[in-house]
Amino acid sequence: MQPLQLDSWRAKRQVLAKHILESAHDHGPLRILEAGCGSRWNVDLGDLEYTLTGVDLDEKALDMRINERRDLQETIVGDLRTVILDDARYDVVYCCNVLEHVDGAEQVMHNLVRWTRPGGTILVLIPDGRSAKGFLTKLLPHWVHVLFVRHVQGLASAGKTGFGPYRTYFDPVVSLAGVRRFCAANGLTIDACYSSAYSQSANRILTALSQAVAWTVHIVSFGRLTARHADLTFVIRKPADPAGRHRSTGQALPPDDPQRRTP
Ligand SMILES: C[S@@+](CC[C@H](N)C(=O)[O-])C[C@H]1O[C@@H](n2cnc3c(N)ncnc32)[C@H](O)[C@@H]1O
Repeated sequence: MQPLQLDSWRAKRQVLAKHILESAHDHGPLRILEAGCGSRWNVDLGDLEYTLTGVDLDEKALDMRINERRDLQETIVGDLRTVILDDARYDVVYCCNVLEHVDGAEQVMHNLVRWTRPGGTILVLIPDGRSAKGFLTKLLPHWVHVLFVRHVQGLASAGKTGFGPYRTYFDPVVSLAGVRRFCAANGLTIDACYSSAYSQSANRILTALSQAVAWTVHIVSFGRLTARHADLTFVIRKPADPAGRHRSTGQALPPDDPQRRTP
């Protein structure tokens, strides 16, 4: 399945909300884990009843989240590679722009699956490490990222604690092929996959410039590094357990429940 192209952040947010809303059930609020939550959450779920748990390494970012956004019901300072959370607790696990920053991203992927209830949804958003943008991000030293975010994207606090950009590693799983391989090897289904292009900035010059750079890298790499997309969004389904049990509540799902799946 080729990724479906999304052409704006707005479209991406709508798609994310749609997939989360589809996970809604009638046994209490939807339990959502935001893995690597940082200082903000960009998804509008309207009237949906849900609880949001945020985990992040960066205490300063979490402080901002707690004091300014005030949208988390539970906050955990921890490393996604090693933090202990209840198995199968969450209906939805959301991990946006985090895995490229983790040296050991595959371990985090295993944990995301472990924390999701059987039949639950895992939303993973990453830059594709096998794209021209991913390649350049890996290649350029961290201080260039800081200067770019500070002066081109105009975020004056870039590089200070609690603010990005964060160091990047791009383990092999952080790519289209890598996530597909991981899912196939671990019995997970990819319900949907979306791609988005280079700069979704309102600045047209910046968009044109980043596209020109991407196509140059694509040509120089003899087509190995894609210029068609930069970022990927995966909607991954953890198989339901054979009894069709909704483990986060202990209630069995009715036989016609759309969340009931055969493993
Ligand atoms: C680019 S920010 C993204 C934040 C947020 N998810 C968003 O989309 O705005 C990356 C976040 O991942 C967190 N992070 C990186 N490595 C981590 C790890 N091993 N465990 C927990 N959080 C981590 C950083 O502290 C940072 O808050």
